[in-house]
Amino acid sequence: MSSSARQAPINPVQARVHPLIAARYSPTRFADREVPVEVLQRVLEAARWAPSSYNRQPWYFLVARRGQPAYERLLSTLSAYNRGWARTAPVLLLSSAQKEDARGPNRYAEHDLGLASGFLALQAVAEGLATRFIAGFDADAARAAFDIPPQYRPWTVIALGYPAPEAEPTPAQRERKPYAAFVGWGGWGLAPPFATD
Ligand SMILES: Cc1cc2nc3c(=O)[nH]c(=O)nc-3n(C[C@H](O)[C@H](O)[C@H](O)COP(=O)(O)O)c2cc1C
Repeated sequence: MSSSARQAPINPVQARVHPLIAARYSPTRFADREVPVEVLQRVLEAARWAPSSYNRQPWYFLVARRGQPAYERLLSTLSAYNRGWARTAPVLLLSSAQKEDARGPNRYAEHDLGLASGFLALQAVAEGLATRFIAGFDADAARAAFDIPPQYRPWTVIALGYPAPEAEPTPAQRERKPYAAFVGWGGWGLAPPFATD
């Protein structure tokens, strides 16, 4: 893990989790440094080993590296705000969920794409990299730009790179819901017997 990843402010709850999870945050600025292909492969390999319903592995990551025509094409599908910061990322990934395969429709495609993306994001931290997911893009434009088959649905663009040293996360993005809002202990709405802050 790079020192820049470690510098991310962490709160006491996060400090009790695995360092990879505690160090992950989504920068809005990346360092001007290329990501070697072998590092990119390890990040993708992590996604490959995510669990999935019936092991259908319903994910696809289109990799666009700065300098490739695909990079500008993908960048142009982002909202103006996202384009502003995402252009600092040396790599953009377009994640898509395979909604249908030989078994038929897959109701868990988005769930499993999310899992694989989470694995990818944590491996990125292990490599000293960072990710920021982007929903603010035109999925139809991306579909047209890359001729995406109809059984796939573009879901997010993922900005990937080494975080810029000054790219501290905002306090708002470090806020998390209290436990009572996402954990039911023995029943829905029942608070767990530990800190609920
Ligand atoms: C599916 C998804 C879509 C997101 N879309 C955007 C986006 O369009 N623009 C943006 O700046 N951040 C986006 N984010 C980043 C979130 O704002 C960020 O993950 C959240 O504030 C928590 O911060 P953290 O990742 O540093 O913990 C997105 C994150 C996810 C998971």
